[in-house]
Amino acid sequence: MTYRIALIPGDGIGLPVTEAALQVAQKVAPGLLDCVTFPWSCEHYLQTGRMMPEDGIDTLRGFDAIFLGAVGWPAKVPDSVSLHGLLLPIRKAFVQYANIRPHRLLPGVKGPLRKQGFDILCIRENTEGEYSGAGGRVHVGTPDEVAVETSIFTRVGVERILRFGFEQARKRRGKLASVTKSNAQKYSMVFWDELTHQIAADYPDVEVSHYHVDAICARMVMAPETLDVVVASNLFGDILTDLGAAIQGGLGFAASANINPTRSAPSMFEPVHGSAPDIAHLGVANPIAAIWSAAMMLDHLGATDAAARIMAAVEATTAQGMGTVPGQDRTEVITAAVLAALD
Ligand code: IPM
Ligand code: MN
Repeated sequence: MTYRIALIPGDGIGLPVTEAALQVAQKVAPGLLDCVTFPWSCEHYLQTGRMMPEDGIDTLRGFDAIFLGAVGWPAKVPDSVSLHGLLLPIRKAFVQYANIRPHRLLPGVKGPLRKQGFDILCIRENTEGEYSGAGGRVHVGTPDEVAVETSIFTRVGVERILRFGFEQARKRRGKLASVTKSNAQKYSMVFWDELTHQIAADYPDVEVSHYHVDAICARMVMAPETLDVVVASNLFGDILTDLGAAIQGGLGFAASANINPTRSAPSMFEPVHGSAPDIAHLGVANPIAAIWSAAMMLDHLGATDAAARIMAAVEATTAQGMGTVPGQDRTEVITAAVLAALD
């Protein structure tokens, strides 16, 4: 059995961390992944005028999964151009509606909180909501300029992400926190709350809590151990998962999976951190978020033993203090430690 993987290292630290993650995956499951690398990036944009070719989506569709490093080089290409030319269209085109982001402390990682024992699974809606891209600007550059950007919440979109969250809660500790801001946003967020109530009836075994996004931010800091599965809209989920990354010790540990649960198109796996152009030349990018994302990819592809072995090796590595302090250890040293822990 071989899985065809589209590798998109992208920009900045996306390149070294992708290489590290693939090295680990190849070692744990030799021959399982057949990778094709695509140079789609801001560099590619500067050369060709596009982040990916016009038929990029069609090309990717033939793969079993996509592994992405990071996209963005704001000094050369505006983020609004690079992200809307590569990462965001892939999430939408392949209906990767569930963005799964685990937040827990790896052994040996201190984290900024006094609390140690938390294990949160953030499920972020990944195709619509505040990221729908509906809007426009008129009277550009004049004093009368107007900018409108409309969030779009569909019944199909909200229902499927909530159901996905309930299913995850069922497999874990049976708790689901639904995040809105329905005290201020009286249409879309009240709609989300109503659908949460309706769908909860199908999951009587799951304990549901409703949080406003501001309140759950405080809870993630003050009492993260009280949370299990957290389901949120695209933008709220984006913000909450940087907070989640922070409480787990930093973005160097935050992994993610953009999942198409029906498997009608490939899913995509990527670390939550961006391209970090400021440290890209230093050789100290933490590959752990990318390696963890590779484990999530193997798990999704059905290689659950290989995925578990990667996580055990990552945990053995951090337990020794390796890779636990941002900027302290070099990328290749951390990678070598994970590879050694696989033996
Ligand atoms: C993330 C990133 C992206 C997002 C950016 C780069 C568009 O912050 O994956 O969390 O907002 O989704
Ligand atoms: Mn983000």
